[in-house]
Amino acid sequence: MLMRQQIIRCTTIEKELALLLKTLSFDNLFVLMDKNTRKFCFPLIELIPEIKLAKKIVIPDGDGSKTITYLLKIWKFLSKKNATRKSILINLGGGMITDIGGFASSTFKRGISFINIPTTLLGAVDAAIGGKTGINANGLKNEIGTFTQAIAVLIDSNFFKTLNNINFLSGFSEMIKHALLDSSEALEEVLCFNINNLDYKKLNSLLFKSILVKEKIVMEDPKEKKNRKALNFGHTFGHAFESLSYKMLKFIPHGYAIAWGMICELYLSFILFGFSEKYLMKIISFVKNHYGEFNFDCSHYRLLHEFMRHDKKNVSGNINFTLLKSVGEIVIDKSIDMKKIDEALDFYKKNY
Ligand code: GLY
Repeated sequence: MLMRQQIIRCTTIEKELALLLKTLSFDNLFVLMDKNTRKFCFPLIELIPEIKLAKKIVIPDGDGSKTITYLLKIWKFLSKKNATRKSILINLGGGMITDIGGFASSTFKRGISFINIPTTLLGAVDAAIGGKTGINANGLKNEIGTFTQAIAVLIDSNFFKTLNNINFLSGFSEMIKHALLDSSEALEEVLCFNINNLDYKKLNSLLFKSILVKEKIVMEDPKEKKNRKALNFGHTFGHAFESLSYKMLKFIPHGYAIAWGMICELYLSFILFGFSEKYLMKIISFVKNHYGEFNFDCSHYRLLHEFMRHDKKNVSGNINFTLLKSVGEIVIDKSIDMKKIDEALDFYKKNY
């Protein structure tokens, strides 16, 4: 079993990061950020003495930077600025930054330490914790990557106060997913949260409950041999929707794709395992109200099948799903045929 990852709940990022850096030994410190986090988040830590001396790498924002091109730039920068195995890279940003920064660190000189500071809700609840790192390649999401834990993840909810609604909702769907994997109480609490009038104290408490759900699963199965596959709930359809949106040049945020993907996978859970119709309907209504719809038609089904075939959960050509018998009762590695997949897509379209 994995050691518990150090997740630090911050009151102010400057204070907790300064304290953490005092306890660590390193020769060189690096900070990776994107243009947005350089402008809006970096000022919150720039006065820390160790950060003043750190070498900064800034890459363009957006998932378009999670590629081999920017990975090479990061490796080259680390090399040029004399990073060694005793150096530490701080990843300050959303999922794109923590994924590519974690991957660059886990491979540079066979691995240097890194710290994640997620600046989005999606990053805090999912991408920055649990040790998945990677880049997109060959037209596929997270096709190349490693399982490597950050030495620490610092979470300061103050960052989320400036998130726009789309970014907020993108993270919130992963919180719905964690609640579905956990318990009806957790699910009710998340679905009752007033998204139109955010109570940040309440959000913070929901966020840390949500992180605990993920942490528990990751500690038991860090390399996704078995039960960690639970965390892929909603992601088989979700990633296919996301890939289709890239293909159609109509980019949709990750969390939106997962919200829509969960509807298809809850439908499969309902017809195959008798998952509660009440919760299926409740989630459809929540997703409809807040996330709107993803526009596709039957002519896209073949492409969606193609994307699903590349899912990392598949073995021997079957498309494998994580489904739910009930809230908190998880079934992994459930192979589903194309007819049922199309039925779920039809169901999605009918209900929108
Ligand atoms: N995002 C799913 C996982 O970390 O396993």
